[in-house]
Amino acid sequence: MRTQVAIIGAGPAGLLLSHLLHLSGIESIVLESRSRADIEATIRAGVLEQGTMDILTNAGVGARMKAEGALHHGVELAFGGRRHRIDLTELTGKAITVYPQHEVIKDLVAARLAAQGQLLFEVSGVQLHGVDTATPSVSFVHGGEAARIDADFVIGCDGYHGVTRPAMPPQGREDFTRNYGFGWFGILVESAPSSDELIYARHDRGFALVSTRTPTVQRLYFQCDPADHVDNWSDDRIWAELHARLESNDGWRVNEGRIFQKGIIGMRSFVSTPMQAGRLFLAGDSAHIVPPTGAKGMNLAVSDVNVLAQGLEQYYRQGRDDRLQGYTDAALRRIWRAEYFSWWMTSLLHTFADATPFQREMQRAELECVVSSRAMATALAENYVGAF
Ligand code: FAD
Ligand code: DHB
Repeated sequence: MRTQVAIIGAGPAGLLLSHLLHLSGIESIVLESRSRADIEATIRAGVLEQGTMDILTNAGVGARMKAEGALHHGVELAFGGRRHRIDLTELTGKAITVYPQHEVIKDLVAARLAAQGQLLFEVSGVQLHGVDTATPSVSFVHGGEAARIDADFVIGCDGYHGVTRPAMPPQGREDFTRNYGFGWFGILVESAPSSDELIYARHDRGFALVSTRTPTVQRLYFQCDPADHVDNWSDDRIWAELHARLESNDGWRVNEGRIFQKGIIGMRSFVSTPMQAGRLFLAGDSAHIVPPTGAKGMNLAVSDVNVLAQGLEQYYRQGRDDRLQGYTDAALRRIWRAEYFSWWMTSLLHTFADATPFQREMQRAELECVVSSRAMATALAENYVGAF
């Protein structure tokens, strides 16, 4: 097989990149190790920044997001038994949309297939060759047969555990990592939303987050030990923990319902630089991870591929590669800002096992400052909606 751009991974980064390239008349093939049913059912992110919504809309894949997503103009911070609203729209003129990542994936897969895009599911044994030459290639197994794609470029959109980052030449690489030592326990619940807006709660027992999915499904998270197991948490234990952490002086309580999905994710910050070596580029979680508190992961994947698509378009239309060569620097400016915000939100709202009494008081005081100072609330709001 021969194509212009070989893309590894059909997450938001890989699918959107393939679609943006198609809109610019550039051919690509996407290789995905899982099945279509699997990628369309994996529960992950939920919050889309305004800029992400704009990119999806301009790419012609925003119709269902607009119709079914929920536009949110504010978020709440809860601590000390009280909830405090941050008015995102008043402070920034922008809003966010709650629309699940797997729905974005469904929209992108449908758009790629409608345009006869080449999307190969359930491939295995992906290996990269000659990425430091002008003729890179990818070998893999599909439907029991060995296959190979020759391409001009290979783009690693295969997430944190993929094969493309390890294929980067080691010279000159620098990785940055922070492990937080805790995780999030996430559940999906059959019940009406408990709140019109997301609630980020700090409690001495640990962080909790109230989010939504649809008028009949809630998405809830609480801080946990990343080595814990979902089987240790009966539904009764989960509700007791959520009620304790979301305690409210005004009688508000989180709505209970049937829990139909449970999962634990670890929290880490990670950036791997540079994001390019020769003809191999990384985008999305293959190059960087944020803890989910700032809701930035999928948004960063989208902004990476937006920059990369512009670079590839310039290369094919004008025969110039200055944008491609500037990709790492352009992408990293936004990535580091999102890394900072996600780290800051995580530090502000979680309990840390090694925190001294002084550090705990500083955390409480900082929360008070954020909800009482318009300047600090604006800084949070700007970062949350991605207004930078
Ligand atoms: P991925 O979505 O990880 O996609 C990579 C794809 O590559 C996968 O489909 C994988 O199967 C495939 N792949 C891997 N290895 C190979 C291989 N060797 N060969 C072929 N294919 C391969 N982000 C937000 O913006 N907002 C949120 O609210 C938010 N909440 C989150 C909540 C949770 C519980 C989690 C886990 C994440 C959350 N995120 C959030 C982060 C977001 O989900 C990720 O940042 C996003 O999925 C990154 O997209 P990606 O395309 O880079 O990678
Ligand atoms: C959701 C996930 C997040 O990481 C976040 O900060 C807000 C909402 C969600 O899955 O709904």
